[in-house]
Amino acid sequence: MLVTLEGLDGSGKSTACRHLREWFQSAVFTREPTTSWYGDAVRRSVDDSDADPVAELFLYCADHAAHLSETIIPALDDDRLVISDRYVDSRIAYQGVTLRDRIDDPARFVRELHEPFTVMPDLTCFIEVDIPTAVQRSGGATKFERRPFLEAVATEYDRIIDAEPQRFTIIDGEQDIDGVVTDLVEVIQAHHP
Ligand code: TMP
Repeated sequence: MLVTLEGLDGSGKSTACRHLREWFQSAVFTREPTTSWYGDAVRRSVDDSDADPVAELFLYCADHAAHLSETIIPALDDDRLVISDRYVDSRIAYQGVTLRDRIDDPARFVRELHEPFTVMPDLTCFIEVDIPTAVQRSGGATKFERRPFLEAVATEYDRIIDAEPQRFTIIDGEQDIDGVVTDLVEVIQAHHP
């Protein structure tokens, strides 16, 4: 089973993932951007405020393709529970915003670009926080952590969730980390007893 965690920068996803390791010790924990050289290229792009957004999309997609073939698909073939901190929906939401000036209906373009080669998650937990919380917790260090940008990304996530409500569970990210982890454990166990 493939579980993904999504949310704005500062939603607490990565911290929650660290705690989940104690609960699901036989699961494969992974993330996007990955820790491979493709992921390094993505991170260079995130840190470059002048990076071309179309080029950046394809860096993320390259990282995703390698992530699928090297990690996700082999683990699913072994019947492992896979938990990924960010996945396809991050691209639809974030690049759905960065590409607005370059491509018509970018979220749809990004979704359709993935369809032929990706594996969609069985369950996606969206950790929801208010915009001021996201801005304050993320620290505003990268181009993706500014308020107007995160507002637009939040709107894209809302659209994705509205289109596929059966795949998503919304987790209240404004509560303390123990509450977030408890909610996540409950929903993942309900899907993967
Ligand atoms: P992280 O903060 O979860 O490490 O992700 C790095 C940044 O990259 C974060 O601002 C979200 C952004 N991002 C995208 O824009 N598109 C993607 O596909 C992914 C995986 C992350």
